Amino acid sequence: MKVVTCTAPVNIAVIKYWGKRNEELILPINSSLSVTLHQDQLKTTTSIAASRDFAEDRIWLNGKEENIQHPRLQTCLREVRRLARKRRNDAEEDTVSRILNYKVHICSVNNFPTAAGLASSAAGYACLVYTLAKLYSVEGELSEIARQGSGSACRSMYGGFVQWVMGEMEDGRDSLAQQVEAETHWPELRILVLVASAEKKHVGSTSGMQTSVQTSPLLKFRAESVVPERMKDMIEAIKKKDFEAFGQLTMKDSNQFHATCLDTYPPIFYLNRVSQEIISLVHRYNAHYGRTKVAYSFDAGPNAVIFTLEPTVDEFVELVTCCFPPESNGDPFLKGLPVNPTS
Ligand code: DP6
Repeated sequence: MKVVTCTAPVNIAVIKYWGKRNEELILPINSSLSVTLHQDQLKTTTSIAASRDFAEDRIWLNGKEENIQHPRLQTCLREVRRLARKRRNDAEEDTVSRILNYKVHICSVNNFPTAAGLASSAAGYACLVYTLAKLYSVEGELSEIARQGSGSACRSMYGGFVQWVMGEMEDGRDSLAQQVEAETHWPELRILVLVASAEKKHVGSTSGMQTSVQTSPLLKFRAESVVPERMKDMIEAIKKKDFEAFGQLTMKDSNQFHATCLDTYPPIFYLNRVSQEIISLVHRYNAHYGRTKVAYSFDAGPNAVIFTLEPTVDEFVELVTCCFPPESNGDPFLKGLPVNPTS
């Protein structure tokens, strides 16, 4: 039996991916850019065992067995095994060939709420593809395979600041993740996650973006006329470590993504009242200082991801804890909703 265990971190998009031009290959209608969290924080840990005693491939997610026949899982398994057959070297050949004939048992756990809009599928598929590649001794470009598990997963294959270039080719060979800057580039940058709700989201990203592509004229405008320029500006802001520009672009892009959700028919609401109050708090805080000290971003869920620089963390966390006390029972919407700042 051979067992391999790896971890992959969550990534948070500051220029959002929303909408596919090819559903099966998971090819996006616009490029996107994200920040990958540190390995020790929000992450997926995946162990894969290959043994001649296993009768079939099986998978457990957070302790519960799931259907291994899921098409996206099957694509990742098939593609990594195909690469392994193609790329195996002579020294490894015997072992790899043997293991390729074995079935696998996959165990994957997240250390954060699954499907609460915290990009769990990104870390999950990135980790699955990476661990499979280690099992079969495959090296090299793997983001093309991770992308076919979940679009945002291709960005979790790299640390630091990562762009997913949308590409133009029909077979998706040029739709890949690329590191823009390494994780060491901006050491003062901090990310806080404010958990407004750990419930499973009502509309998943996959179906949500399908409806948006079919019905939202704003999404088409965004993909064609807003994102290309914004990608350039964001890369420049990151390279210069310009928090003012980085923060403003991050908030504007999150707001436009949620505007496209509202422009979708029927509309999709990912933000809740706590999310809206956090947005307003951030703008009041920045207005008080006359500059962008804190920025928010929301994915397909109500939880806020806050970007700031190290000297601001303590003051902002204190402000949030003061405005949203965990035991708050005055406001029915806030009752029982924990706000857990995590740095
Ligand atoms: C709002 O990558 O989860 O988080 O490709 O269908 O699996 P699929 O969607 P997914 O969508 C993520 C959407 C987002 C924005 C982003 O991460 O860029």
